[in-house]
Amino acid sequence: MTDDMTTSAGAAGAAGAAGAAGVAGAAGVAGAAGVAPSKPAVQIAPSLLSADFTNLARDILMIEQGHPEWLHVDVMDGHFVPNLTIGPPVVRAIKQVSSTPLDVHLMISNVAEQLDWYIDAGADLITFHIECASDYQGIEPAQPLTSATAFEITRPELIFSIIERLHQARCLAGLVINPLTPVELALPFLGSLDLVLVMSVHPGFGGQSFIESALDKLSLLAEIKRAQNLDYIIEVDGGINTQTARLAVAHGVELLVAGNAIFAQPDPLAAMAEIRAAAEAAAAELTANDDSH
Ligand code: DX5
Ligand code: ZN
Repeated sequence: MTDDMTTSAGAAGAAGAAGAAGVAGAAGVAGAAGVAPSKPAVQIAPSLLSADFTNLARDILMIEQGHPEWLHVDVMDGHFVPNLTIGPPVVRAIKQVSSTPLDVHLMISNVAEQLDWYIDAGADLITFHIECASDYQGIEPAQPLTSATAFEITRPELIFSIIERLHQARCLAGLVINPLTPVELALPFLGSLDLVLVMSVHPGFGGQSFIESALDKLSLLAEIKRAQNLDYIIEVDGGINTQTARLAVAHGVELLVAGNAIFAQPDPLAAMAEIRAAAEAAAAELTANDDSH
């Protein structure tokens, strides 16, 4: 992270990060020079979960030739989700070879206890799950939820304190909502957040199919953002390809995570460019529809 980026990410929140990351920014988000883009732009975060872990540096440098706005890093603890991936030393190593802001997705139960590890490792944006502040905190001892109404947020103060710690550390703060979690549970936190991440697969593994119920959540988040003039970025993660990218953008998404549809393809750079083109086409349609109203 450069000093400039640290400053703008912390001082100006999501708008600062979008500008500092050298992207046109999401709808209504001004760039570094304070100039609002004329139309919504969609940001892309290739998920390194689908990269070749024996050649991580090679894959990072390769995909950076396509100028993604973020690199998405999936941290799993084998407790919050039934998989174990990478931890702070690997995030630090990724930071050393990459020149792209790191979007670090924490799929862990003990967020408060481990947050500093990932801040110190160089995360520019940290997303953590809202479910961590409920009685459901992972696959053990609880079982995965089977119903959308099975829990409530019992510790909202935990969420506010994590957001505050991230902002004090000049790191962007994002809240993640699982497929079975009602998006309404996130409403009290929206005004404090830089980003909301809607999971469109059950977290834990790459290569799953897009869960369509995520689309209504995206629409609601976009509507609230507009109505309340908030500036959180709306991100989606899971099962994104050219088709689902179009759908998600049409429902208001501004940042697309894609793993399998990029790194598992014979030409990952071309695959990422195709997803971006599909997303931009959908964003242009959205703008055209808005203008005609
Ligand atoms: C899943 C992870 C995702 C994953 C997405 O738990 O959070 O970031 O890499 O992979 P695809 O794009 O293959 O669904
Ligand atoms: Zn992820």
